[in-house]
Amino acid sequence: MTTIAHISDLHFGVAVPSVVEGLARHLIEHPPSLLVVSGDLTQRARAGQFAEARKFLDRFPWPRLVIPGNHDVPLYDVVRRFSSPLGRYREQIQEELNPLFQNDEVLVAGVNTARSLTWKSGRISHAQMDQLAKRLAQGGARLKVVVTHHPFIPSPLSPKAGIDLGRAAQALTILEQHKVDLLLAGHLHHGYAGDTRTHFASATRSIISVQAGTAVSRRVRREPNAFNWITVQPDTLLIQMLAWDGRGFQPAKRTRYRKRDGAWLPEPA
Ligand SMILES: [Fe+2]
Ligand SMILES: [Fe+2]
Repeated sequence: MTTIAHISDLHFGVAVPSVVEGLARHLIEHPPSLLVVSGDLTQRARAGQFAEARKFLDRFPWPRLVIPGNHDVPLYDVVRRFSSPLGRYREQIQEELNPLFQNDEVLVAGVNTARSLTWKSGRISHAQMDQLAKRLAQGGARLKVVVTHHPFIPSPLSPKAGIDLGRAAQALTILEQHKVDLLLAGHLHHGYAGDTRTHFASATRSIISVQAGTAVSRRVRREPNAFNWITVQPDTLLIQMLAWDGRGFQPAKRTRYRKRDGAWLPEPA
């Protein structure tokens, strides 16, 4: 069994100190196998904001897989935005933009979807798809997980809004070929999960896409600060959302999927 603490959209710069402390406290009391951070570590990609994010991450001794989000590319500093969009991220958080984690049970591949040109929208390049295919091919029987900042499925609150991820359908064919089971993302500041087949008519494989809310920032939209605690087993995915109640992170929405005849089916959690 592998446990993943999936946090997203920290937005240091507009992070609420009491929630930051609450999250650190909760994580230290409940150590995961892996900490996944699905982007938007900062609000404006400033050096001081990355320093705060790095200091926060360094409080935890477990393996971590971190990818950037669109807010980690400068928006108003146009020179830096185009000359070195993720320069500060690479200097202060980590050099690798498409990180990889594996243990005996899972292979987790991060894909950087943040771009300078289409600042808010994400994209996956052909080179990234090639790299991803090679990595997934080496996964063997392990359960395969792909992490992006931009989600592959829209929020159930605005299903017609579409998604903000260029070449998603093309990338999905690679995820299907290489038997990916789980996608993790953020960006919309809304925690929800669903099967990618509900959005892509052409999809042939059941792949569960799990989004995390904003962990610690005051940029909350429809729900309080939240993150996901995900328990991964070969035939079961348990997604426990933990939401801030003003004093601590408490269990909130819980979704369990069980694999039957190759499809992930929701069942009472
Ligand atoms: Fe965000
Ligand atoms: Fe974002």
